[in-house]
Amino acid sequence: MGKVIAFSNQKGGSGKSTLSANIAVLWSNSGYKVAVIDADPQKSLSYWLTERKKYYGEDDIGIDFYNFDIRNLSDEIKKIKRKYDYIIIDSPPAITFETIQIVKVSNGIFVPVQPSPLDLMATLPFLQIARDERKKPLIILNRVMPRARLTDAMVLRLRYSGAKVARSRISSKIIFAETFAVGRGVIDINVTSDASREIINVGNEILRNL
Ligand SMILES: Nc1ncnc2c1ncn2[C@@H]1O[C@H](COP(=O)(O)OP(=O)(O)O)[C@@H](O)[C@H]1O
Ligand SMILES: [Mg+2]
Repeated sequence: MGKVIAFSNQKGGSGKSTLSANIAVLWSNSGYKVAVIDADPQKSLSYWLTERKKYYGEDDIGIDFYNFDIRNLSDEIKKIKRKYDYIIIDSPPAITFETIQIVKVSNGIFVPVQPSPLDLMATLPFLQIARDERKKPLIILNRVMPRARLTDAMVLRLRYSGAKVARSRISSKIIFAETFAVGRGVIDINVTSDASREIINVGNEILRNL
Protein backbone atom coordinates (compact mmCIF):
# COMPACT_ATOMS: atom_id res chain seq x y z
CA MET A 1 0.00 0.00 0.00
CA GLY A 2 1.37 3.39 -0.95
CA LYS A 3 2.29 6.07 1.53
CA VAL A 4 0.83 9.54 1.18
CA ILE A 5 3.01 12.49 2.11
CA ALA A 6 2.18 16.18 1.99
CA PHE A 7 4.32 19.27 1.83
CA SER A 8 2.23 21.80 3.68
CA ASN A 9 2.47 25.20 5.26
CA GLN A 10 0.02 28.07 5.17
CA LYS A 11 2.94 30.38 4.44
CA GLY A 12 3.43 30.90 0.70
CA GLY A 13 6.92 30.78 -0.76
CA SER A 14 8.27 28.39 1.86
CA GLY A 15 9.25 25.69 -0.65
CA LYS A 16 6.28 23.31 -0.80
CA SER A 17 6.26 23.07 -4.59
CA THR A 18 10.05 22.99 -4.87
CA LEU A 19 10.28 20.09 -2.42
CA SER A 20 7.29 18.27 -3.97
CA ALA A 21 8.97 18.33 -7.38
CA ASN A 22 12.47 17.45 -6.20
CA ILE A 23 11.41 14.63 -3.89
CA ALA A 24 9.14 13.23 -6.64
CA VAL A 25 12.12 13.16 -9.01
CA LEU A 26 14.37 11.62 -6.36
CA TRP A 27 12.01 8.74 -5.62
CA SER A 28 11.01 8.21 -9.23
CA ASN A 29 14.67 8.07 -10.31
CA SER A 30 15.31 5.66 -7.42
CA GLY A 31 12.83 3.20 -8.96
CA TYR A 32 9.74 3.88 -6.85
CA LYS A 33 6.31 4.37 -8.36
CA VAL A 34 5.42 7.98 -7.65
CA ALA A 35 2.29 10.09 -8.15
CA VAL A 36 1.82 13.77 -7.39
CA ILE A 37 -1.30 15.77 -6.63
CA ASP A 38 -1.32 19.53 -7.05
CA ALA A 39 -3.77 20.81 -4.43
CA ASP A 40 -2.75 24.46 -4.79
CA PRO A 41 -5.06 26.63 -6.94
CA GLN A 42 -1.93 28.55 -8.02
CA LYS A 43 -0.92 25.33 -9.85
CA SER A 44 2.87 25.73 -9.71
CA LEU A 45 3.42 21.97 -9.66
CA SER A 46 1.08 21.50 -12.65
CA TYR A 47 3.14 24.08 -14.52
CA TRP A 48 6.29 22.15 -13.56
CA LEU A 49 4.77 18.91 -14.89
CA THR A 50 3.81 20.57 -18.18
CA GLU A 51 7.38 21.79 -18.60
CA ARG A 52 8.65 18.33 -17.65
CA LYS A 53 6.58 16.73 -20.41
CA LYS A 54 7.99 19.23 -22.90
CA TYR A 55 11.50 18.27 -21.82
CA TYR A 56 11.23 14.48 -21.52
CA GLY A 57 8.17 13.75 -23.67
CA GLU A 58 4.57 13.16 -22.63
CA ASP A 59 5.05 9.56 -21.45
CA ASP A 60 8.57 9.66 -20.08
CA ILE A 61 8.46 11.92 -17.06
CA GLY A 62 8.50 9.01 -14.61
CA ILE A 63 5.81 10.57 -12.41
CA ASP A 64 2.00 10.24 -12.60
CA PHE A 65 -0.23 13.22 -11.99
CA TYR A 66 -3.77 13.35 -10.61
CA ASN A 67 -6.02 16.37 -10.79
CA PHE A 68 -8.39 15.49 -7.96
CA ASP A 69 -11.15 17.53 -6.41
CA ILE A 70 -9.48 17.97 -3.03
CA ARG A 71 -12.86 17.92 -1.25
CA ASN A 72 -13.08 14.20 -2.15
CA LEU A 73 -9.39 13.53 -1.56
CA SER A 74 -9.81 10.63 0.81
CA ASP A 75 -12.03 8.60 -1.59
CA GLU A 76 -9.89 9.48 -4.60
CA ILE A 77 -6.67 8.44 -2.90
CA LYS A 78 -8.15 5.12 -1.81
CA LYS A 79 -8.69 4.29 -5.49
CA ILE A 80 -5.06 4.81 -6.50
CA LYS A 81 -3.11 4.00 -3.34
CA ARG A 82 -2.36 0.41 -4.36
CA LYS A 83 -0.66 1.51 -7.57
CA TYR A 84 2.08 3.62 -5.98
CA ASP A 85 4.88 3.51 -3.48
CA TYR A 86 4.54 7.22 -2.76
CA ILE A 87 1.85 9.80 -3.42
CA ILE A 88 3.05 13.38 -2.89
CA ILE A 89 0.60 16.23 -2.27
CA ASP A 90 1.63 19.85 -2.84
CA SER A 91 -0.61 21.94 -0.57
CA PRO A 92 -2.11 25.41 -0.94
CA PRO A 93 -0.73 28.27 1.17
CA ALA A 94 -3.79 28.46 3.39
CA ILE A 95 -5.63 26.72 6.16
CA THR A 96 -8.92 25.68 4.61
CA PHE A 97 -11.24 22.69 4.53
CA GLU A 98 -9.03 21.33 1.72
CA THR A 99 -5.86 21.67 3.79
CA ILE A 100 -7.46 19.70 6.58
CA GLN A 101 -8.46 16.93 4.15
CA ILE A 102 -4.81 16.79 3.07
CA VAL A 103 -3.62 16.51 6.66
CA LYS A 104 -6.14 13.74 7.35
CA VAL A 105 -5.17 11.54 4.37
CA SER A 106 -1.42 11.93 4.75
CA ASN A 107 0.84 9.43 6.46
CA GLY A 108 3.44 12.15 6.91
CA ILE A 109 3.21 15.96 6.95
CA PHE A 110 6.38 17.83 6.02
CA VAL A 111 6.53 21.55 6.61
CA PRO A 112 9.09 23.58 4.70
CA VAL A 113 9.98 26.79 6.53
CA GLN A 114 12.38 29.56 5.70
CA PRO A 115 14.49 30.22 8.74
CA SER A 116 13.20 33.66 9.62
CA PRO A 117 11.21 34.55 12.74
CA LEU A 118 8.32 35.94 10.69
CA ASP A 119 8.07 32.81 8.56
CA LEU A 120 8.20 30.67 11.62
CA MET A 121 5.42 32.63 13.29
CA ALA A 122 3.24 32.23 10.22
CA THR A 123 3.79 28.46 10.40
CA LEU A 124 2.73 27.89 14.02
CA PRO A 125 -1.06 27.77 13.38
CA PHE A 126 -0.55 25.07 10.76
CA LEU A 127 1.61 22.98 13.09
CA GLN A 128 -1.21 23.12 15.63
CA ILE A 129 -3.77 21.98 13.03
CA ALA A 130 -1.59 19.00 12.17
CA ARG A 131 -1.23 18.10 15.83
CA ASP A 132 -5.00 18.45 16.34
CA GLU A 133 -5.30 15.70 13.72
CA ARG A 134 -2.85 13.62 15.77
CA LYS A 135 -0.08 13.93 13.16
CA LYS A 136 3.52 14.71 13.93
CA PRO A 137 4.58 17.34 11.42
CA LEU A 138 8.27 17.49 10.59
CA ILE A 139 9.70 20.91 9.83
CA ILE A 140 12.22 21.09 6.99
CA LEU A 141 14.30 24.24 6.91
CA ASN A 142 14.54 25.56 3.37
CA ARG A 143 16.55 28.39 1.81
CA VAL A 144 19.04 28.22 4.62
CA MET A 145 21.87 30.72 4.21
CA PRO A 146 25.42 29.71 5.09
CA ARG A 147 26.62 30.62 8.58
CA ALA A 148 23.27 32.03 9.68
CA ARG A 149 23.35 32.13 13.47
CA LEU A 150 19.67 32.96 13.45
CA THR A 151 18.92 29.48 12.13
CA ASP A 152 20.47 27.67 15.09
CA ALA A 153 18.68 29.91 17.57
CA MET A 154 15.41 29.24 15.76
CA VAL A 155 15.90 25.49 15.73
CA LEU A 156 16.54 25.51 19.47
CA ARG A 157 13.41 27.51 20.11
CA LEU A 158 11.34 25.29 17.82
CA ARG A 159 12.54 22.11 19.48
CA TYR A 160 11.91 23.65 22.88
CA SER A 161 8.28 24.26 21.87
CA GLY A 162 7.93 20.57 21.00
CA ALA A 163 8.23 20.82 17.21
CA LYS A 164 10.22 18.22 15.32
CA VAL A 165 12.84 19.75 13.05
CA ALA A 166 14.57 17.65 10.39
CA ARG A 167 18.33 17.34 10.70
CA SER A 168 18.77 17.72 6.97
CA ARG A 169 18.26 21.17 5.51
CA ILE A 170 17.98 22.68 2.07
CA SER A 171 20.18 25.67 1.39
CA SER A 172 19.38 28.66 -0.71
CA LYS A 173 20.59 27.86 -4.22
CA ILE A 174 19.57 29.33 -7.51
CA ILE A 175 19.62 25.85 -9.11
CA PHE A 176 16.39 25.00 -7.26
CA ALA A 177 14.59 27.88 -8.99
CA GLU A 178 16.27 27.29 -12.37
CA THR A 179 15.46 23.59 -12.53
CA PHE A 180 11.86 24.08 -11.38
CA ALA A 181 11.21 26.56 -14.19
CA VAL A 182 12.12 23.95 -16.82
CA GLY A 183 10.29 21.01 -15.27
CA ARG A 184 13.30 19.28 -13.78
CA GLY A 185 14.69 18.40 -10.39
CA VAL A 186 18.25 18.93 -9.19
CA ILE A 187 18.68 15.13 -9.25
CA ASP A 188 18.00 15.11 -13.00
CA ILE A 189 20.98 17.38 -13.60
CA ASN A 190 23.70 15.81 -11.46
CA VAL A 191 23.16 13.33 -8.63
CA THR A 192 26.39 14.27 -6.90
CA SER A 193 25.89 18.04 -6.66
CA ASP A 194 25.53 19.74 -3.26
CA ALA A 195 21.88 20.46 -4.03
CA SER A 196 21.24 16.79 -4.89
CA ARG A 197 22.97 15.63 -1.73
CA GLU A 198 20.61 17.83 0.29
CA ILE A 199 17.56 16.47 -1.51
CA ILE A 200 18.76 12.88 -1.00
CA ASN A 201 19.26 13.53 2.72
CA VAL A 202 15.86 15.16 3.11
CA GLY A 203 14.23 12.31 1.13
CA ASN A 204 15.84 9.72 3.39
CA GLU A 205 14.84 11.60 6.51
CA ILE A 206 11.25 11.75 5.25
CA LEU A 207 11.25 7.98 4.74
CA ARG A 208 12.56 7.43 8.27
CA ASN A 209 9.66 9.54 9.57
CA LEU A 210 6.88 7.59 7.84
N1 LIG B 1 16.25 26.28 -1.57
C1 LIG B 1 15.92 27.25 -2.44
N2 LIG B 1 16.86 28.02 -2.98
C2 LIG B 1 16.53 29.02 -3.84
N3 LIG B 1 15.28 29.30 -4.22
C3 LIG B 1 14.28 28.56 -3.70
C4 LIG B 1 14.53 27.50 -2.79
N4 LIG B 1 13.34 26.95 -2.44
C5 LIG B 1 12.40 27.64 -3.10
N5 LIG B 1 12.94 28.62 -3.85
C6 LIG B 1 12.22 29.60 -4.69
O1 LIG B 1 11.34 30.32 -3.83
C7 LIG B 1 10.08 30.52 -4.46
C8 LIG B 1 8.99 29.87 -3.63
O2 LIG B 1 9.19 28.47 -3.58
P1 LIG B 1 7.96 27.47 -3.76
O3 LIG B 1 8.49 26.08 -3.74
O4 LIG B 1 7.14 27.87 -4.95
O5 LIG B 1 7.14 27.77 -2.43
P2 LIG B 1 5.63 27.41 -2.05
O6 LIG B 1 5.22 26.28 -2.92
O7 LIG B 1 5.67 27.07 -0.61
O8 LIG B 1 4.83 28.66 -2.29
C9 LIG B 1 10.21 29.96 -5.85
O9 LIG B 1 10.55 30.99 -6.72
C10 LIG B 1 11.34 28.94 -5.74
O10 LIG B 1 12.01 28.75 -6.94
MG1 LIG C 1 3.57 26.15 -4.16
